[in-house]
Amino acid sequence: MKLTLSVIKADIGGFVGHSSVHKEVVEKVREIAEDGKDRGIIRDVSILVCGDDIALVMTHTKGIDSSDVHELAWNAFKEGTEVAKKMKMYGAGQDLLADAFSGNVKGMGPGVAEMEFEERKSEPVVIFFADKTSPSAWNLPLYEIFADPMNTAGLVIDPSMHNGFIFDVMDVYTGMGIQLKAPEELYDLLVFIGATSRYVIRCIYRKSDGEIAASASTQRLSLMAGRYVGKDDPVLIVRAQSGFPAVGEILEPFARPWLVEGWMRGSHTGPLMPVPFRNAKPTRFDGPPRVIAAGYQITDGYLIGPSDLFDDPAFDEARRECNNIADILRRQGIFEPHRLPPEEMEYTTLPKVLEKLKDRFKLVEVKK
Ligand code: F6R
Ligand code: MG
Ligand code: MG
Repeated sequence: MKLTLSVIKADIGGFVGHSSVHKEVVEKVREIAEDGKDRGIIRDVSILVCGDDIALVMTHTKGIDSSDVHELAWNAFKEGTEVAKKMKMYGAGQDLLADAFSGNVKGMGPGVAEMEFEERKSEPVVIFFADKTSPSAWNLPLYEIFADPMNTAGLVIDPSMHNGFIFDVMDVYTGMGIQLKAPEELYDLLVFIGATSRYVIRCIYRKSDGEIAASASTQRLSLMAGRYVGKDDPVLIVRAQSGFPAVGEILEPFARPWLVEGWMRGSHTGPLMPVPFRNAKPTRFDGPPRVIAAGYQITDGYLIGPSDLFDDPAFDEARRECNNIADILRRQGIFEPHRLPPEEMEYTTLPKVLEKLKDRFKLVEVKK
């Protein structure tokens, strides 16, 4: 019997501002999700929090896009929103764009990453969860984990990975997708996934047998809502070991920080800081963007975990480096490239300011 792992996340109100979530809100979400477990909708559930976002990590046998499972998550977020509203938490219900559930939470605000597989003899998985950034934040680490032998020794050493992986890439503006093979189409792949404002990796499959290896949430809230409603704060599931990258190979890219879009008002470039659960509270200039890594062993469909994988002094240098990069970028203030380029600012509140000034422009130089 195939097992489905569904991770569904939303921002339903922040404590304080957009920095974290109040425990009473988390408890209500947990209560509804646990009730769904008692009613047999799901096998198991675990709750993760990163910044002002809550994720439901669920196992079940209903397949991906199951309306029962999506409805359970929707109801948990709805009920959590009621608590958040009563407590006047900031931006209560922010990511619930629709009034009523209609079959699938995709397109309704919450982010979703799901995969279906036959549980192996031992099934270790890593779930990454980030706040104050967008789904394209996963492009660089996924490339390194599944296509760069300088990061993942197993691509060279392990015969079951040696054939490489297939990347499923989507253009977030058109919804069009393309599958590209690594290593043979690596340069083509990088043409797209290097353009992080447009292309995101949805899934990765092992080439030798088509097994699912990774699945990411790719929803762009601003494109759904037509206006800035917070960054998409993505989740990512990666299967580990025995023919997939080792846990240490999966975590390794995060030891060398890189820049992502998001941070304050979703309008800035900043380093993605890998943190233990307790430090997933972005407060400096609403950031810098954070990422947590939750490890689970899935056993007969039950989630044993989470293990807080970035709670390791080996990531201290990465955190320090993120702080140094943050200082350098903050020096730029409102100037690019700390601030995002105009195309990305279209989905923030800036166009409202521009609208007010547009009639003040007069022709001062004739274009030849
Ligand atoms: C970024 C984020 C925050 C807010 C900022 C302004 O994703 O959530 O940085 O954009 O705190 O928030 P508002 O406009 O709600 O006052
Ligand atoms: Mg928020
Ligand atoms: Mg958030």
